[in-house]
Amino acid sequence: MTTSACELCHEDCYAVMGNPIAHSLSPRIHHLFARQTGQSLSYDALLVEADGFAHAVAAFLIAGGKGLNVTVPFKQEAYELADELSPRAQRAGAVNTLLIHDDGTLLGDNTDGVGLVRDLTRNLNLTLSGKQILLLGAGGAARGVLAPLLEQKPARLLIANRTPERAKQLANSFSDLGAVKGCGFQALSGPGFDIVINATAAGLQGQVPDLPGDVIDPHSCCYDMMYGSLPTAFMHYAQQHGAQRTFDGLGMLVEQAAESFLIWRGLRPDTGPVIEALRQLTA
Ligand code: ATR
Repeated sequence: MTTSACELCHEDCYAVMGNPIAHSLSPRIHHLFARQTGQSLSYDALLVEADGFAHAVAAFLIAGGKGLNVTVPFKQEAYELADELSPRAQRAGAVNTLLIHDDGTLLGDNTDGVGLVRDLTRNLNLTLSGKQILLLGAGGAARGVLAPLLEQKPARLLIANRTPERAKQLANSFSDLGAVKGCGFQALSGPGFDIVINATAAGLQGQVPDLPGDVIDPHSCCYDMMYGSLPTAFMHYAQQHGAQRTFDGLGMLVEQAAESFLIWRGLRPDTGPVIEALRQLTA
């Protein structure tokens, strides 16, 4: 059984679990949301050992926790652990948000894809419908955003990956949702992509996907799902290839957090001022 509020701090308790977690911006984002909406809650970043996720969730639940965000490397484990899954979490095969019901059962959701789409369409004013979209990468990050991207009805969504077979398999498993195909980087031929989204992990090593030189052109909007205080390696690459509009994933991070906040608290915070505050903080 859960209690009505955290036994330790007497507020509704939330947290993000991951490994590593020290640099997570999620506590700052949720504190800003709470202040803006006048909600009383706590939100911590919890470092969890690689084999300790289920145990950490159980302990959080017993302490009266209300909800969790889940990040690398536990999103698949959260998917397995959830008692019930939203359709979008089911599709993504991963959970980044857990809602803890009063009876202690866990609802698993995934807000990453809707966060990306909201950032692209509402914050950056891009139209996805009828557009040519190139998604780079075929791992968990790409899988998590595919269904919401296809819901926007692009003319074509091409997944390109270093390992071509993974891209083809991923495309096949989403082909019931729209026009999606998969290929390797070397099979790409540009120009012509309106929106290029980097969902690879290459940036973690400061690398960029090994793309043919003509894939990005001045009219392509290039979006990196990563973010940092400086333009990312992929944004640099895109600028060097003439792209006039390049964006990092900070807006996606705030939008996915807002969607989690909505699930937990029943109201959606205004994300604009929070994105602005974080930009100043990380500048
Ligand atoms: P994540 O959950 O972050 O997506 P993942 O499931 O391990 O992590 O997937 C990592 C993705 O980044 C994959 O698409 C991977 O390509 P492969 O499938 O060929 O491994 C891609 N990736 C990682 N490092 C890369 C690099 N240096 N260049 C291009 N793609 C890279």
